[in-house]
Amino acid sequence: MFSKRIACIGAGYVGGPTMAVIAMKCPQYKVDVVDVSEARIKAWQTDDLPIYEPGLLDVVKAARGRNLFFSTDIRAAIRESEIIFVSVNTPTKTFGEGAGKAADLQYWEKVAREILHESASPKIVVEKSTLPVKTAQTMENILNANGKKVPFEVISNPEFLAEGTAIRDLLEPDRVLIGSRETPTGLKARQEIVDIYANWVPPERILASNIWSAELSKLVANAFLAQRISSINSISALCEKTDASVLEVSRAVGMDSRIGGRFLNASVGFGGSCFRKDILNLVYICEYYGLEEPARYWESVLRMNEYQEARFVRNMIREMFNTIVGKRIALFGFAFKADTSDTRESPAIYVARKLMDEKAQVAVTDPKALENARIDLAGYGENLDLVEDPYEAARGAHAVAVMTEWELYRALDWEKIFQSMEKPAFLFDGRNLLDHERLFRIGFNVYPLGKSPLKHF
Ligand code: NAD
Ligand code: UGA
Repeated sequence: MFSKRIACIGAGYVGGPTMAVIAMKCPQYKVDVVDVSEARIKAWQTDDLPIYEPGLLDVVKAARGRNLFFSTDIRAAIRESEIIFVSVNTPTKTFGEGAGKAADLQYWEKVAREILHESASPKIVVEKSTLPVKTAQTMENILNANGKKVPFEVISNPEFLAEGTAIRDLLEPDRVLIGSRETPTGLKARQEIVDIYANWVPPERILASNIWSAELSKLVANAFLAQRISSINSISALCEKTDASVLEVSRAVGMDSRIGGRFLNASVGFGGSCFRKDILNLVYICEYYGLEEPARYWESVLRMNEYQEARFVRNMIREMFNTIVGKRIALFGFAFKADTSDTRESPAIYVARKLMDEKAQVAVTDPKALENARIDLAGYGENLDLVEDPYEAARGAHAVAVMTEWELYRALDWEKIFQSMEKPAFLFDGRNLLDHERLFRIGFNVYPLGKSPLKHF
């Protein structure tokens, strides 16, 4: 018999991998992952998983059918579990009060009501989704509005995994954060969740806090990470004006142990499903509490990201003689980062659309994200070409622009690519991924980020 029965509502990028790791590490627990999307659940039941994540399939296969189950029967999963992780999406609201900034909690609230409706025995409800600080209060208000007198405890256990490294992040997390009410029942529920992670995470990395600190820390961690990227991206613009190299600057700055070297790679901009929405949410919360200056401070991190994306495209157009009408431009990579098929908020979406609005012919290539690219760029018809093979994407192109830092692009035969392109051939490296000197010697006009360009004219 299983010693704990865990349900997870929401089988997406977070729910799926997180529960797969819990199930693999804890064969003594039963883990039911449920979702409203039949297609997603079906895919989780096959080896063609709904998301691409290195190492994920092996973890799923180790536990699936043993103590890890995927289903659309949300009600049964609620009834039969003692602990319910909720990992549904919490996108930016697109309508009404707070539109464009606040988190849209409609999926979240629907789940809360479903839990209330189905529960006949005590439940620990775990916030796994990223939520505005104070959401647990709302959750408690909904759950406690029950005539059944079923006891509920709400725990905040935000997830810090990054896509592309999700399995490693889950197996060896920097920390696991578990926030609860500091009442006797709250502390008991907290301990139940600590006990799950203690199966593989060293105790010093399991961090307990009050519930509001846990909710807020998640938003703050993302805001700080994004802030570092915006900071270095702002400096990349200055480097291009002054012949400094942003690679050298970030190395020199990052070697200060107080600053640290990670998350200082200048790029065409940060993407992903969370940085933008979570900062918008933080801005909204600050405004809600009348904190105008903190709101404007965090908002500037987003403004800088938008500036960086726009600057990248402007530079391409300017350098290609101020017109790209009818010119083929190959975008190498469409995912928001390497090792994922996810394209949510990818800077490549912005760049592709802008180029096509300028009437360029855009060829997009990506090893994992072409299906999503097709959806993101629907409606562009004849101006768009989606191709598996990067050599084919570049054939006849005036320019190649690197959008995603896929390792495979380093190993391409760049001589061959150069030969197949229109001349002069332009290379815009939005990730500083490639060997710029070598490309220049081959004949490309090379535009790194935050470094002087290498031009033949
Ligand atoms: P996702 O869109 O991939 O998955 C959410 C899933 O919830 C979907 O499959 C959807 O069908 C399901 N769902 C929605 N409403 C439902 C309902 N009422 N009942 C059952 N299922 C329902 O989202 P995600 O990327 O996994 O993110 C989930 C949460 O985790 C968000 O709050 C996000 O901010 C946070 N987060 C995401 C990441 C990441 O890397 N993607 C990392 C940390 C935290
Ligand atoms: C990010 C955080 O890193 C996770 O801790 C968090 O759990 C997650 O958001 C979330 O809440 O969703 P993720 O968006 O998956 O994870 O990926 P990151 O590695 O953070 O990259 C985000 C974006 O920043 C990517 O577009 C990436 O290319 C870009 N980036 C990252 C840079 O431009 N420069 C860097 O130095 C690092």
